[in-house]
Amino acid sequence: MVEAVRDHWLITLAVVLVVGSPHGFWRRGGETHVMKRASFIVLLLMAAAVVPAQQRHVEALEPSALVSRGQRLFKIQGCYGCHIVGKFGTPIGPDLSNVGGRLSRSYLERWISDPESQRPHAHMPKLELEAEDVTALAAYLSSLR
Ligand code: HEC
Repeated sequence: MVEAVRDHWLITLAVVLVVGSPHGFWRRGGETHVMKRASFIVLLLMAAAVVPAQQRHVEALEPSALVSRGQRLFKIQGCYGCHIVGKFGTPIGPDLSNVGGRLSRSYLERWISDPESQRPHAHMPKLELEAEDVTALAAYLSSLR
């Protein structure tokens, strides 16, 4: 929230500088060179400040979006048909309610994409999953502790 407010403030300031300055960008004349350069540099600095702030927003959102996507996939892909998470599911394979505490996320990714590669004669079938779906499922399972 604080960052969003700061971004708005910076953008407003930039607009005021460009449009409102008596030596602004849009006017021509010999003596405005120095001011033009100065305000250009100020703008560059502000752009540099705004971009990382926006990247931080994306990073803050991404993990939970991935986890909820994994949660949806867990239903759609029929994982509940053989596993229990919380109150739901079928106890054919192991209960996965706390699997995030037992197995690492990278192991989970490898397991979900090809169980036999981790355990010869695994009973769990290899499911046809996109790499992105595997990432999301592993992120979801990893969050179950
Ligand atoms: C047809 C039944 C079946 C389905 C469907 C199934 N599993 Fe499994 N799963 C198993 C069985 C059985 C095991 C126990 C290990 C084995 O394969 O022998 C297992 C084990 C696991 C393990 C634990 C591995 C370990 O080392 O303890 C994870 C994690 C897992 N499954 C995730 C999933 C996910 C995610 C899905 C859905 C994409 C899924 N499973 C769908 C049967 C299934």
